Amino acid sequence: MEKSKVLIVGGTGYLGKRLVKASLAQGHETYILYRPEIGVDIEKVQMLLSFKEQGAHLVSGSFSDQQSLVNAVKLVDVVICAISGVHIRSHQILLQLKLVDAIKEAGNVKRFLPSEFGTDPARMEHALEPGRVTFDDKMVVRKAIQEANIPFTYVSANCFAGYFLGGLCEPGRIIPSRDSVFLLGDGNTKAIYVDEDDIATYTIKTIDDPRALNKTIYIRPPKNILSQREVVEIWEKLIGKDLHKSSISEQEFLASLEGQEYAEQVGLVHYYHVCYEGCLTNFEINGKDEREASELYPEVNYTTVEDYMRRYL
Ligand SMILES: NC(=O)c1ccc[n+]([C@@H]2O[C@H](COP(=O)([O-])OP(=O)(O)OC[C@H]3O[C@@H](n4cnc5c(N)ncnc54)[C@H](OP(=O)(O)O)[C@@H]3O)[C@@H](O)[C@H]2O)c1
Repeated sequence: MEKSKVLIVGGTGYLGKRLVKASLAQGHETYILYRPEIGVDIEKVQMLLSFKEQGAHLVSGSFSDQQSLVNAVKLVDVVICAISGVHIRSHQILLQLKLVDAIKEAGNVKRFLPSEFGTDPARMEHALEPGRVTFDDKMVVRKAIQEANIPFTYVSANCFAGYFLGGLCEPGRIIPSRDSVFLLGDGNTKAIYVDEDDIATYTIKTIDDPRALNKTIYIRPPKNILSQREVVEIWEKLIGKDLHKSSISEQEFLASLEGQEYAEQVGLVHYYHVCYEGCLTNFEINGKDEREASELYPEVNYTTVEDYMRRYL
C-alpha cells in the first residue's frame, strides 16, 4: 500500500518536530505548515530549513487565511495537528476549529489527528476548574470533527516523559533533584510515562492503520506504568543515593492552587488528576473504539523509564 502524504501543523513545536522526524523516518511524504507569523523567529526558521533538507516540503499557510489552510490540506491524505495546548507555554487548541473547517471544505483528507496527546478528554468530564479547560476545548474540537464526518484518530499519549520524569513527578520541576522530592500523597498512584519520540513513532504508525480509524489510541508501554515512588526508586538506583522524601496531602495540594497564576493552576489540576486520582490508569481500554499502541505495534522498541532517566545523570 502506498504511504499517505502527511501535513504536520505545529511542526516546530515540542511534539510537532518529533512528528515531522517520525513521519520522514517512516517514509511518508511530509509537509509542514509554515506560518508567515513566524516573523524573525530564527530558531523556527532554521528548524524548518533543516526539515526541508531532510526531505520535508514547507507549505505556507496561516490560521488567519482560511483559503491557505484549505490549499495546504488539499496536498495530503492525512493531517496531524500538534498545536500548543500547555498553558504555561501557549494554549491554542480551539484554533483547530479553523483547520476542521478547512479539512471539511477540502474534502480529500482520509484521517485527521487533532492536537490531543495527553489525558483522554472524553474521560475527564469530572475534571476540576480551571484545569478542565484543556479537556473541554479538546472535546469541542472532537465534536466539530465528528459533526463534519472527518475520519479521525485520537492519540492519548499519557505523560510526556520530559515533564513528568524530568521532575520526578513534582510540578514545577523538569530536572530531577539529587537531594529531595515531594511525594504527591502516598506516591503510590500509577501513571504512564512516554518518551516524546516514541509518542511520535506510535502516532505515525496509526495513520495508515485501519485498526486506528475512528478510534482512540492509548499509549501505555507496559514497563512504563509506574507510581511516583517507583520513578523515584529508579532515579535513586541510578544516582546511587536515597532522596529525602516528604509528602503533600491531597488537601494541601489543592489548597496550594490558591494565589497561583491561572496558567500554573491549570497545570496543577492536571497533576492532581494524574498523580492523586490516577486518571490515566483507573480504567480498562475497551478494545472496540479504543486500542493500545504497544499492543498494536509490538515492533516499536520503546524507551523505558530507566533508559529515559539516564540522560539526566
Ligand atoms: N501529555 C503531556 O504530558 C503533554 C505535555 C505537553 C503537551 N501535551 C499536548 O501536546 C500537544 C502539543 O503541545 P506542545 O507542547 O508540543 O506545543 P508547543 O510546542 O507549545 O506548540 C506547538 C506549536 O503550536 C503552534 N502555535 C502556537 N501558537 C500558535 C498560534 N497562535 N497560531 C498557530 N499556531 C500556533 C506553533 O506552530 P508552528 O510550528 O507553526 O510555529 C508551535 O510550534 C498539545 O495538545 C498539548 O496539550 C501533552
